[in-house]
Amino acid sequence: MTTLSLNDKFVKNYVSEKKMNDIYSEINVAQKTLIDRVGEGNQFLGWIDLPVAYNKEEFARIKIAAEKIQKSCDVFIVIGIGGSYLGARAAIEFVKSPVYNSLPNKKTPDIYFAGNSISASALSDLLKICEGKDVCINVVSKSGTTTEPAVAFRVLRNLLEEKYGKEGAKNRIFATTDKEKGTLKKFSDDNGYETFVVPDDVGGRFSVLTAVGLLPIAVAGIDIDKMMLGAKDAREKYLGKEASTNDCMKYVALRNLLYRDGKQIEVLAAYEPALQMYTEWWKQLFGESEGKDGKGIYPSSVIFSTDLHSLGQFIQDGTRNLFETVIDIKNSNDELLIPFDPDNVDKLNFLAGKDLNYVNHTAMLGTLFAHSDGNAPNIVLELADRSEYSFGYITYFFELACAVSGYVLGVNPFNQPGVESYKKNMFALLGKDGYEELREELNKRIN
Ligand code: PA5
Repeated sequence: MTTLSLNDKFVKNYVSEKKMNDIYSEINVAQKTLIDRVGEGNQFLGWIDLPVAYNKEEFARIKIAAEKIQKSCDVFIVIGIGGSYLGARAAIEFVKSPVYNSLPNKKTPDIYFAGNSISASALSDLLKICEGKDVCINVVSKSGTTTEPAVAFRVLRNLLEEKYGKEGAKNRIFATTDKEKGTLKKFSDDNGYETFVVPDDVGGRFSVLTAVGLLPIAVAGIDIDKMMLGAKDAREKYLGKEASTNDCMKYVALRNLLYRDGKQIEVLAAYEPALQMYTEWWKQLFGESEGKDGKGIYPSSVIFSTDLHSLGQFIQDGTRNLFETVIDIKNSNDELLIPFDPDNVDKLNFLAGKDLNYVNHTAMLGTLFAHSDGNAPNIVLELADRSEYSFGYITYFFELACAVSGYVLGVNPFNQPGVESYKKNMFALLGKDGYEELREELNKRIN
């Protein structure tokens, strides 16, 4: 079976063949710019060849470290924010389960994520969870200076050092960061932590298939070889291929044409709660890559049918400025038959003996008709299953689509200048050295 295919039945009435053909030429140019490495941000294109050119020595070390972590702890904490945690969390929930930590008979450690907010409650809860448990940490930060993970690392490092002593803690702390620069690299080397590399030419939101994602994913017992193979096969299938023959570029074409036609919001929809964090990863990928210079499609997400009971009304009938991209998982991990009830009090016997997946799929079909009839076009991406292979495959599909889309839009998809603004203000207000002038200005505005 094909791993991924694009079904355009519920969108094609919204885009003319002529417009599709015209935009394909633009997309071919944008893809060439990417592949020839002559576009903006071309110093961050390491992700393009990662599935075929990853560091094999480090990959082997990741597997060894993952086994060591599995053997030595009950609780494994991944500290990171944005691209430094979303991919790993998305993969673990996608392939395993959104309730991975509660799965019975699980032989791998519970995995928690920290340093992705500044919430005292979230970190305090985690400290309580660690009580009486053996703990390992993976601190992930490319820059090594991001405040949220740096604060969480300080708190959790203290916990480990109190529990195991400095020497014991050092064998339980793994750092993923720049290969030579930055505070975290220096600190890790000085303290003897094992380190993994965020390659210079791979930005955070494109880094799930580096040690950033792969170490936590491997700790969860997921086969990272199969994941890389999925990405490699997607690369072979889509990279450098003529746009009109290529589903990845067809996705780029459709979303850009819809955007030009006033559809400024893309809602990524999935009918599996296991994809909730995947939609978060996707939102960062597209939001941070495209949203700049006053342009970009705003990435939003829903899990159906859950959100049909909250956002369904708006999507069906509200401001007509959105389209949906639906990930349709063809083969579910589980089958669950609806039981027969002789009393049929709930009048559900028409469903008795039917697999819940069939009902879910029917809900999807009904929704596709309703939303597309209601002027919310739907692009459907049919994905074979929730295997690690499919994860690698669709992830590469989206990364490539995002990069090409950014060039079609006329932005640099590989920078994130807008993220700095809040940081500067926060540092100034918190009293960090070097921000005196801004502090004075902001204080005047507060008072
Ligand atoms: O995509 C990105 O570059 C960002 O989301 C970063 O991953 C995020 O800001 C964390 O940065 P760092 O890994 O340097 O701590």
